[in-house]
Amino acid sequence: MALIRFGVSIEKDLLEKFDRFIKDKEYTNRSEAFRDLIRQELIQKQWQTDQEISGAITLIYDHHKRELVNKLMDIQHDFGGIIISSQHIHLDHDHCLEIVAIKGSPKQAQKLADSLKSVKGVKHGTLSMSATGKGI
Ligand code: NI
Repeated sequence: MALIRFGVSIEKDLLEKFDRFIKDKEYTNRSEAFRDLIRQELIQKQWQTDQEISGAITLIYDHHKRELVNKLMDIQHDFGGIIISSQHIHLDHDHCLEIVAIKGSPKQAQKLADSLKSVKGVKHGTLSMSATGKGI
């Protein structure tokens, strides 16, 4: 895709803050940092306006709680339409890490993440909100 250069007027102290921010985030230049910030806003908009999104739900739980594993499985079967893949990793003797990749409606994705995270015995759960790559 063609790159277009354009000028941006910005207050000196805001630019200094931006430069400190991009240094902390290890960007090599302002342009890439600026592009990422724009994409982040566009992705947020996609989640808010119910466009097709992708993302990942990660869960940490103790697999010895047998009912818990069945419950997580039941919920995932109910949301089969938006789950595109899942991976189960045995972290140690007790703990499992499960990563569920999703693609579809943001509302469904949020509902699935909330349902999984709220199962008793899930020690930690996150929803990573990303995009399908279209429109960003
Ligand atoms: Ni396991």
